[in-house]
Amino acid sequence: MDKELVIAKTSEFVRRELEGEGSGHDWWHIYRVTELTKRIAKEERADLFLCTMAALLHDIADEKLNVSEEAGIARVKNWLDSQAVDQAAAEVIIEIISTISFKGGHGPKLTRREAMVVQDADRLDAVGAIGIARCFVYSGAKGRPMYHPDEPHRESMTKEEYRSNNGSAINHFYEKLLKLKELMNTETGKKMAASRHEYMESFLERFYAEWDGRS
Ligand code: ADP
Ligand code: NI
Repeated sequence: MDKELVIAKTSEFVRRELEGEGSGHDWWHIYRVTELTKRIAKEERADLFLCTMAALLHDIADEKLNVSEEAGIARVKNWLDSQAVDQAAAEVIIEIISTISFKGGHGPKLTRREAMVVQDADRLDAVGAIGIARCFVYSGAKGRPMYHPDEPHRESMTKEEYRSNNGSAINHFYEKLLKLKELMNTETGKKMAASRHEYMESFLERFYAEWDGRS
């Protein structure tokens, strides 16, 4: 198996599949997560091939883009088979992809270093300057307001209230973005998340100050 060739072909495959994808899982998200993954994997001494492949394929299996989670996983399996990826490596890649999604912070505790690396990279793309931009793009695409001063924090809502409530972009900071720092797995991920977190906090400070004409 020529690992570099497999990575190049996988990258092309994912790019083709996700071109025009509008739910926040476009190719450029994959590109950023893969670059972050490579950087963190090197520092954490994780397997670069497994990490890179899992990063590239992590959204191909997403429930939102397939009829079911199983169908998504099958799609990834078929691709790995078609590239003659070793059975053992393919199994690990599939395992990483199926264990890393956020699931409200209640996902399984990760044991494999490679899974920790890719999950950190995916979470880092939801914070910092990029995270802010993605949040406003997502919110705008759903026709939601960027901010509403009187809205209740969605954390304090019942499940039913939560489902029927279309929170603002700023609200999403509190329900997810500002929590991600505490959920990082690796030391490298923690350091990067801390600086992205700080950036979001100063963004919010300015946002509120400008909202009230204080700045
Ligand atoms: P992932 O599958 O990578 O965990 P999601 O599908 O939950 O991410 O979200 C994709 C992007 O859209 C992320 O940057 C996320 O912060 C943003 N996003 C998700 N839900 C909301 C929301 N309710 N309001 C604003 N942004 C959101
Ligand atoms: Ni992702």
